[in-house]
Amino acid sequence: MPAKSEFMLTLESSCDETAAAIVDADLNVLSSVIATQEELHQKFGGVVPEIAARAHLHRILPVIDEALKKANKSLADLKAIGVVTQPGLVGSLLVGFTAAKTLAMVLDIPLVSVNHVEAHIYACRMAAGREVFPAIGLVVSGGHTNLYDCTGPLDFELLGSTTDDAAGEAFDKVASLLGLPYPGGPSIEKLAALGNPRAHAFPRSYWHDARLEFSFSGLKTAVLYVIQGQPPHRRDPATVTPQVIADVAASFQEAVIDVLIRKCRQALHQRNRRTLCVGGGVAANRRLREELQKLATQDGIEIHIPPLSLCTDNAAMAAIGWEALNRGLTIPLDSDVVPGLVRSPRV
Ligand code: KG4
Ligand code: ZN
Repeated sequence: MPAKSEFMLTLESSCDETAAAIVDADLNVLSSVIATQEELHQKFGGVVPEIAARAHLHRILPVIDEALKKANKSLADLKAIGVVTQPGLVGSLLVGFTAAKTLAMVLDIPLVSVNHVEAHIYACRMAAGREVFPAIGLVVSGGHTNLYDCTGPLDFELLGSTTDDAAGEAFDKVASLLGLPYPGGPSIEKLAALGNPRAHAFPRSYWHDARLEFSFSGLKTAVLYVIQGQPPHRRDPATVTPQVIADVAASFQEAVIDVLIRKCRQALHQRNRRTLCVGGGVAANRRLREELQKLATQDGIEIHIPPLSLCTDNAAMAAIGWEALNRGLTIPLDSDVVPGLVRSPRV
């Protein structure tokens, strides 16, 4: 049996998933519990911050209990608590952080802060079961589309990000335009399989630009014009057949993937890296995974994409907290959450 000192409770509540996991110091995930709020936000087509925060409040303690129970551990077995403190919705972050602080104080164990976006990349390290850095890291989620140069598990330099919508957010908003359910990514992926990805030549922002930036709002508007006509509401809705919607979904998905692949290639080239780590909810997309594999083969790149369970939001990936703990980077009980992403001065 592993010793008492080897287990960390990790908590994630940055957006709309309330999650807890028990992870040992060798990064084995003993349990990973996720309470999704999808059904609460579905009718709004996106996450409503106040509803999310209130739902976290109801779910956080049962989720922690279940994580402990599934791992067959008790609070007394914990060596430390790792909690996502940034970035995210402030009300949501505060719920997880308050639970974590309280437990750390009562149990008198250290507290470590986890950056949610970096944890998405760390999921690749966990899935690989070995070191993967240095690498270029791409996080594609509902809140972020970020490229990093990762020289170590805690050393992430932000190379570029989106100037407007995140890739996942674009999936969600376009799904809403197409009348598809939230979350939009899986809905669009399913429908895109029935459509023609070359039906519409949607815009690919920053294509001929060396900057590692993304923009998806023009793409979203281009979809709007196809569905509603230009100016909007000119198109007869009767002409928007299921095949039209499938073609738009496929062409939209292709445009997003093209841009993601191109920017990864540019980042790998600019930083002379041979390894690419991809994380975040959009990395669950099978077409994207296919194209990433193609990139790996064509360019001789080593590619890491976590299994689906580690792509979308979860607390297991907050095992990056072990890296902080091993370096003595604990945080005091009077520290606070940081809702925004701290951008590197380069961008
Ligand atoms: O990482 P994540 O679970 O939460 C955030 O940190 O935002 O990502 C959620 C996002 C949503 O926008 C969702 O539509 C997108 O990931 N997503 C997908 C797929 N599955 C989830 N996007 C494209 N294809 C998918 N299969
Ligand atoms: Zn996420």
